[in-house]
Amino acid sequence: MATPTNPSTNPGPLALIAEITHRCPLHCVYCSNPLELTARERELSTAAWIGVFEQGAKLGVMQLDLTGGEPLARPDLVELVRASRKNGLYVNLITSGIGLSADRLAELVDAGLDHLQLSFQDAEAGPADEFAGLTAHGKKLAIAREIAKHRIGFTVNLVVHRRNVRRLEEMLAMAEGLGAQRIEVAHVQYYGWAVPNRGELLPTREQVEWSLDVLARAQERLRGRIRLEYVTPDYYARFPKACMGGWGQKLMLIDPAGFALPCHAARVIPGLQFENVGMRGLEWIWSESESFNKYRGEEWMEEPCRSCDRRAVDFGGCRCQAQMLAGDAAATDPVCSLSPLRAKVDATVAEAVRGGRVSEAGGAGEFVPVAEVAEARWSYRLNPR
Ligand code: SF4
Ligand code: FES
Repeated sequence: MATPTNPSTNPGPLALIAEITHRCPLHCVYCSNPLELTARERELSTAAWIGVFEQGAKLGVMQLDLTGGEPLARPDLVELVRASRKNGLYVNLITSGIGLSADRLAELVDAGLDHLQLSFQDAEAGPADEFAGLTAHGKKLAIAREIAKHRIGFTVNLVVHRRNVRRLEEMLAMAEGLGAQRIEVAHVQYYGWAVPNRGELLPTREQVEWSLDVLARAQERLRGRIRLEYVTPDYYARFPKACMGGWGQKLMLIDPAGFALPCHAARVIPGLQFENVGMRGLEWIWSESESFNKYRGEEWMEEPCRSCDRRAVDFGGCRCQAQMLAGDAAATDPVCSLSPLRAKVDATVAEAVRGGRVSEAGGAGEFVPVAEVAEARWSYRLNPR
């Protein structure tokens, strides 16, 4: 068992990510939720969630991200927002907007909602609805106009990939026109439902470079007016991202059934036990649990991370990606150019962008090449019972 953290040197989490439900009307092909979703009857009750938020506030949490699935699927959302605000948390709602009427929005704002992040799949309804598996784009545009009328923070989230990146400029113009104060653009990260769809979603290097150029220019143009932030796609990066700001360093995620996870994908790591808030307090989980201590700090690192100058910058990358691509969560993230497995990532990318498909097992190197396909064959996100 890893050594428990010293609370004096490791302060509590800055943000709590509450996946209050896995239910969602959309079926996005890159959803980062686990393939095994939590059923409605296993979701925490209203009182249990409020207890979690109270504990989080005592532990020093500043921001609460209410997410899912689709958090609007919970009829008690207004109550949850009110309780969080009462505990002094900055409340951010991450939503598709489906299920949000003008009245419900007003109630949420009235209850103390500070910020809302609304996701879009594309600038055009046809492809947007295809990626979402639902006719949703028009409704999102309508609710965005309502959101902009309120005095709350408003971010538009845009997810880009091989099949929509060419419309990036239109997507940015759309977000600008909707009155967002902040735009967040993320290339798809390959977790959850994006893994079986990786062969359809991975962009080419030329697309990535073009998109980064578009984003850099837009950032300059929007400076002082709209904050534009973007995430470089991992599979093309030279060094990995500092996933979650480091394992057990800044964030704690609670899944719909009350299990506390260091990140949204941590269940891909075999043998790791997760504590439930029904059995243990948040403070104990954060400082004492095996799961939060397992990859904290540097002691667990293998070479080349162990002796690398960047280990305090990126913490060796993403543990879940290391597990999925290398079969070892303690390995150097294979997207790192210093990883001995980087060639496998390059092979995965090369195969995918040639029009072949990567095996659904998600293991690099195990290709199932098929003929070039014009139309995508999606694995749509299902819904829990
Ligand atoms: Fe980061 Fe490890 Fe790569 Fe160094 S070797 S850059 S610490 S992932
Ligand atoms: Fe789990 Fe990166 S998603 S550590």
